[in-house]
Amino acid sequence: MNYDKPTIEPTTLWDFPRQNYGKIKHGDNKYPGVTPAFVIWNLIQRYTKEGDLVVDPMCGSGTTIDVCKEEKRRVLGFDIVPYREDIKEADARKLPLENEIADFIFIDSPYSDNIKYNNHKDNIGNISCTKKEFYIELDKVAREAFRILKPNKYLAWLIGDHWRKKTGFIPVGFKIYSILEQYFYPIDIVAVARHNQTSNTPFWRDKAIKYNFYLRGFKYLIIMKKEVTE
Ligand SMILES: C[S@@+](CC[C@H](N)C(=O)[O-])C[C@H]1O[C@@H](n2cnc3c(N)ncnc32)[C@H](O)[C@@H]1O
Repeated sequence: MNYDKPTIEPTTLWDFPRQNYGKIKHGDNKYPGVTPAFVIWNLIQRYTKEGDLVVDPMCGSGTTIDVCKEEKRRVLGFDIVPYREDIKEADARKLPLENEIADFIFIDSPYSDNIKYNNHKDNIGNISCTKKEFYIELDKVAREAFRILKPNKYLAWLIGDHWRKKTGFIPVGFKIYSILEQYFYPIDIVAVARHNQTSNTPFWRDKAIKYNFYLRGFKYLIIMKKEVTE
């Protein structure tokens, strides 16, 4: 397979060996929790056309911006703490955008409080997925995405589950799916293989077998449509 040029994935199992493709950076692979650029490339091929407006309300290091610009889509990226100048500062729960403006929305939200993105008081990544509040706040993000998305257009949300010794398994992906289902019509779910996660080491692999738990091997990419019938 030629990973320098992405190809459209035909199945619901996406397995990319690296974060980036090609010679130019798409986002910053040093950014914690950066999205594989291949994921965004695949989504915009399927759900947008040239000139469409893509919005990423939790843009992190700007992967969505870089992929979209290269593919001639218009793009707006927001984050509670902008990592670079072309990312606008905003809360994903209250975006400075009018209703029904976006042709496509991509969100790779925090999965819990496992990654320290920043200390901003409104960073949802500082709330544990063991707390109800985490889902209440992500519900607000989903509702805001519904407001800004054009009718009959698509949203994709990347999310992973959680396992901790203290709490056991928390099906964060299923919980986010049921939030999204309140607003959107389900199109599909893709399993995106996880590589290079910090627990992918011989130490953690041995522990997982010895203590009979699983390391996270995939994330859910939940694809939804804002279905509006006349
Ligand atoms: C998984 S990262 C996104 C990674 C990004 N797609 C990339 O490729 O770099 C999640 C992001 O959500 C942001 N975030 C957390 N709470 C937010 C909020 N209330 N509004 C906007 N962004 C928020 C964090 O600052 C972090 O950058």
